[in-house]
Amino acid sequence: MVGPKRPFLPLILISLTAFFCYSYYHSSLPPSTSELNPTFTLINPIHAQSHNPTFPNFTFVIKVLAFNRLDSLSRCLRSLANADYLGDRVHLHVHIDHFAHQNGSTIVDQKLNESHRILEFVDGFDWKFGEKIVHYRTTNVGLQAQWLEAWWPRSDNEFAFVVEDDLEVSSLYYEFVKSLIVNFYYNASNYSPSIYGASLQRPRFVPGKHGNKLQLDNQTRLFLYQLVGTWGQILFPKPWKEFRLWYDTNKAKDIRPFLEGMVTTGWYKKMGERIWTPWFIKFIQSRGYFNIYTNFLHERALSVSHRDAGVNYGKTAGPDSQLLDERSLDFNILEMKPLSSLKWFDFCFREVIPGRVIRNTDELGLLLHSLKKRDNVIFVNLFGVSDSVARNLLCHFEGLNIRNYILLGPESDFLFDLARRGHPVINVDQFSTSVGLHKLSSQGSSLETIKDILVHAYVIKKCMEDGYNSWVIDGNVLFLSGDLFLESRDPNHDFFLANRLELFYARSSSTAKNIWDNNFVSKILAMAETLVRKDSTSRGDISFVHVVANLLKQNGVSIGKLDEIIGMKIGSGNFNKSSLGDKKFVYWSDEMGLDSIQKWLEELNLWVIDKDSSCTAVVCHKS
Ligand SMILES: *[C@@H]1O[C@H](CO)[C@@H](O)[C@H](O)[C@H]1NC(C)=O
Ligand SMILES: *[C@@H]1O[C@H](CO)[C@@H](O)[C@H](O)[C@H]1NC(C)=O
Ligand SMILES: *[C@@H]1O[C@H](CO)[C@@H](O)[C@H](O)[C@H]1NC(C)=O
Ligand SMILES: *[C@@H]1O[C@H](CO)[C@@H](O)[C@H](O)[C@H]1NC(C)=O
Ligand SMILES: *[C@@H]1O[C@H](CO)[C@@H](O)[C@H](O)[C@H]1NC(C)=O
Ligand SMILES: *[C@@H]1O[C@H](CO)[C@@H](O)[C@H](O)[C@H]1NC(C)=O
Repeated sequence: MVGPKRPFLPLILISLTAFFCYSYYHSSLPPSTSELNPTFTLINPIHAQSHNPTFPNFTFVIKVLAFNRLDSLSRCLRSLANADYLGDRVHLHVHIDHFAHQNGSTIVDQKLNESHRILEFVDGFDWKFGEKIVHYRTTNVGLQAQWLEAWWPRSDNEFAFVVEDDLEVSSLYYEFVKSLIVNFYYNASNYSPSIYGASLQRPRFVPGKHGNKLQLDNQTRLFLYQLVGTWGQILFPKPWKEFRLWYDTNKAKDIRPFLEGMVTTGWYKKMGERIWTPWFIKFIQSRGYFNIYTNFLHERALSVSHRDAGVNYGKTAGPDSQLLDERSLDFNILEMKPLSSLKWFDFCFREVIPGRVIRNTDELGLLLHSLKKRDNVIFVNLFGVSDSVARNLLCHFEGLNIRNYILLGPESDFLFDLARRGHPVINVDQFSTSVGLHKLSSQGSSLETIKDILVHAYVIKKCMEDGYNSWVIDGNVLFLSGDLFLESRDPNHDFFLANRLELFYARSSSTAKNIWDNNFVSKILAMAETLVRKDSTSRGDISFVHVVANLLKQNGVSIGKLDEIIGMKIGSGNFNKSSLGDKKFVYWSDEMGLDSIQKWLEELNLWVIDKDSSCTAVVCHKS
């Protein structure tokens, strides 16, 4: 490992990292299409540490997980030894599980004989690329411990390749993996903290129930997918360490890796601690991480499983794919497209677009045009909404298949994290600067309020211009169905609102556009400033909907009513699930504390996040 040379180096690294993050988020370059989808290019501190980043001196360790299948193991090791390691040092660690204790002397003798033959074979196996280490267990630990205990990264520059014994790898695999590591781990402009590794197996499985078919166009060679592959998985050091610590915490507290809507949860319920993937899948879902996969066409892959009879298969099932070798190679396997051009898919094999942080009107325009449904856009105001309430709301959106939303919030790590996970966000601080708000004299929370109102005024204007009807909703509201957004509204009005709620709808029509001009936006700003000056102590009535309602009335514009009866206010009285009836949403006062919001929503079965603030279910919708 390349350690810090001088004691003050870590400090420099931190400030360098901060600088790069800063310039990334604060870049004032004109927007372009490619910039709209800047997959998170946070600088990798490891990169900054390396003096010659094009030639990273990383360590590569192959972790072979073996048990009692000598023929499989010998095929596996032979294929590994057959690969081209480009002169690099590569280590081989073989972890041999012990057979389970059994009665009957003939069986025991046979098992002992099997184990000893495997040990003899591994001992005699010539590995000339680096060190060979054999770990022979004293008891049967099973696949979970074999995987989890196989590796604790020695540094952030060590990579593990986990190989179960019935796999066979292509002689080309290492060249490919090395170039993957150089491109996606050590090249800062292609680095994403969301990527936990790479799978060399052919992608075959979608674990989300009712998910999409795993389909890719035949130009795609590389893509990102949340699912871990157990047939030839490269693990990156930091996410693996993070996983081991997460597992440790959850295991110690008896928290089980249940994730509703996932086929793998069914496996866990049947097999329990004999398998490890449900744990890793749950971890990946809570962090929003992704794996790199290949799409080499014609059922080809760099690693294939022979699916020999054993722990996973009762009977030998035969190879799952064709090995891609030198002879069948009909494309440049080392060509790596930039990360920003790769597609990302979740557990439902639905495309995810990470890193959309909108900073100005032009970027908003690009985002609007990229939306699939071209009618209504829902702006969700996260101003003053706690992080877990926001995450809970997004889980409901997933469940209800509400997808045309854009989140608005002040610049924060939380906002960027939501964008990293694929939720489009508007950075209210930068957006308001882009429309000239920095000239204001207000400060602190009043300034925040004014920014929030002004940015809403601009985004609605942009939607009207581009032909989108817009909804403004508050993060302190939870929808029970998506119907409200689909209903057709009285054609006599262009604007609709609910009196006591932050709920507003604006049609994109020529009359609406005439009303909502630059002059109107200036009036919104002026009224917001006046109200803030009058009442600088409480936010109270100073909200976007309140300001707009007043201005529209002053201008004699007729406003349609959004029926408040369809919503239910929680926080007092006696409610339970049955009192929800046919209500379309619940809401609460923004003064209500997080604990009581959670308590109320739990009571109504509407609190759908776990202790990690991640959704308790994966809900797939065909797309
Ligand atoms: C890489 O690391 C190894 C082990 O620390 C060292 O022996 C070797 O000289 C290093 N190579 C380069 C090019 O830095
Ligand atoms: C082995 O035999 C003992 C005593 O008869 C019994 O208690 C134990 O469950 C047996 N173990 C297995 C693995 O069959
Ligand atoms: C295992 O058994 C085979 C034949 O059954 C025998 O040839 C071999 O020597 C035995 N190996 C060991 C290590 O006992
Ligand atoms: C790729 O897909 C196109 C359109 O579906 C098809 O015409 C073409 O033959 C395919 N190419 C390969 C190499 O499969
Ligand atoms: C890093 O990645 C970018 C984008 O793919 C590429 O243009 C650049 O050449 C790469 N840098 C190095 C040193 O390979
Ligand atoms: C739900 O609340 C209503 C009153 O609002 C009450 O009549 C009913 O018994 C409650 N049901 C349950 C299951 O607690």
